[in-house]
Amino acid sequence: MEQNEQITAMPRIGDKAPEFKAVTTQGEINFPSDYKGKWVILFSHPADFTPVCTSEFMTFAKMEPEFNALNCQLVGLSVDGLYSHIAWLRTIKDKIEFKGMKNMEVTFPLIEDITMNVAKKYGMIQPGESSTKAVRAVFFIDPKGMIRAIIYYPLSLGRNFDELKRALIAMQTADTYSIATPADWRPGDDVIVPTAGSCGIAKERMESNDEMTCYDWFFCTKPLAIEKVLVK
Ligand code: BEZ
Repeated sequence: MEQNEQITAMPRIGDKAPEFKAVTTQGEINFPSDYKGKWVILFSHPADFTPVCTSEFMTFAKMEPEFNALNCQLVGLSVDGLYSHIAWLRTIKDKIEFKGMKNMEVTFPLIEDITMNVAKKYGMIQPGESSTKAVRAVFFIDPKGMIRAIIYYPLSLGRNFDELKRALIAMQTADTYSIATPADWRPGDDVIVPTAGSCGIAKERMESNDEMTCYDWFFCTKPLAIEKVLVK
């Protein structure tokens, strides 16, 4: 490790989202207090005017209404400056056409973080990958300002936006219905009911033939209609 390389503890799932004030393409923000009562996807990208990032920003812009409809705001960050951000977003809108997306206007805030203050607080600088660029980090922060999920991708790998939306809906559904979601769950699929906490309940579950399906006493699922999951 370099002598001047600072070790910062990375925030973890279940931690309060670290606070910061920042300049963005939509004005100054106080994070996370400006977003109280809303979910936030706070994400970093390595650099403006790069191809993978451009494809991601166009996709975020296209999907922003879908995230907003789920009570979720998008906030982006890179260690570039404000004028670079503005120039890049203007170029995307005016010149880039990709996979049927064109004239894509990015209206969510993009943080300028030349000092790397925020990126370091959130463990977005991972020197093994790059010490001058943020990796592709995604933090899901809930309406109480708690970190609920974190996904990291390397510089060369564009994010899967279906998965970001699926993860958000799954966490919101788990909160609303006190259930969990199995592998590859999608809205409309069966959900997992909490594991039996007593021998009596385990027995009851195995013997009852109500709406639950039990593969064994500890693994029971039940239907949850898509209308109940996607209702807003
Ligand atoms: C890109 O967004 O294309 C990119 C950025 C940094 C390193 C590699 C790729």
